[in-house]
Amino acid sequence: MTEKDFVPKDLSEEIKEGKTTWQSPSNIALVKYWGKKENQVPANPSISFTLNSCRTTTTLAYRKRAKKATDFDFEVYFEGERKESFEPKIQEFFQRVEQYLPFLKDFSFYIDTSNTFPHSSGIASSASGMSALALCLMDLEKMMAPQMEKNYFLQKASFLARLGSGSACRSIEGNLVVWGKHRNIPGSSDLFGVKYPGEVHDNFRNYQDTILLVDKGEKQVSSSLGHGLMNDHPFAENRFEQAHGNLNKLQEIFRSGNLSEFIKVVESEALTLHAMMMTSQPYFLLMKPNTLAIINSIFSFRKETGLHLCFTLDAGANVHLLYPEYEKEETLEFIKAELLEYCEKEQFILDGTGDGAEKVELA
Ligand code: PMV
Repeated sequence: MTEKDFVPKDLSEEIKEGKTTWQSPSNIALVKYWGKKENQVPANPSISFTLNSCRTTTTLAYRKRAKKATDFDFEVYFEGERKESFEPKIQEFFQRVEQYLPFLKDFSFYIDTSNTFPHSSGIASSASGMSALALCLMDLEKMMAPQMEKNYFLQKASFLARLGSGSACRSIEGNLVVWGKHRNIPGSSDLFGVKYPGEVHDNFRNYQDTILLVDKGEKQVSSSLGHGLMNDHPFAENRFEQAHGNLNKLQEIFRSGNLSEFIKVVESEALTLHAMMMTSQPYFLLMKPNTLAIINSIFSFRKETGLHLCFTLDAGANVHLLYPEYEKEETLEFIKAELLEYCEKEQFILDGTGDGAEKVELA
């Protein structure tokens, strides 16, 4: 597939108005995407667990405009209230995807979105939000091209989501998704996420992710700025190579179910991501004292119990606690007793791996 394959032909002109609703989850990367080339092409391949509970629901209502127009026409609502501050991001997204959705200026859009996770929890909503919007737009395209195949629908939804926010392309399907060309992963692409095609051991079934909300504040450094700082980062080439190597290691780990090796890769990836931030120019630091306290506490817990709780981080201070379902009882007991004190207002989210986005059928 190339970009050109996503430019549609022969779309029906018949569609006048309607609406569609999609619900799309967040995802948590095991091998991190950090650094990109032009057009949201990742500097290295990444892989993530699709989550289940952290979701965005988006309704796209559309009405054909009376005349051909030269601008986009849309309004964005968050939980029913107009949210003009979200609109520049959508405007930019529409500009980026217009060549692949040539009908965008023919309609007036009303976009209403809501999240299952608390607003400003520090949980990134761009992955779930952009993927949900991409799916709604694909639904509209499918109305105009009813013969569209499911695989094309999903790939193009992921492709569009990627142009909105890179990691969003990993939120369409479940529950392990690769994005970025990797020599040993058939079908992997820089253009869209694909379901991990290899064998996966039962140890990873319904893998748990408990998210500790350490710091709910706004990020001081946006991820687009952070990606940009990888451009002339002194360690960039080694880092990108390391990501390829870690994906190789994970392939074997997914097959064998070796959780000790899984932990080594995943925790190293999280710390490397933050090490890249700390060694960028300018450098920055997103972890907080409580992030480190949690990490140290996890190390001690593992040493004492031999259980397989591990952590990963995204571009912030919050900690994702990953553990197998069969160790859930003891692990959750520990989390509740020892780790919640490090969270803002003891807040946490119970999540786990999920099957990806779903269309919400309107009653
Ligand atoms: O999708 P973006 O541009 O917000 O970048 C996400 C980057 C990380 O969350 C830090 C890593 C990842 O692969 O999700």
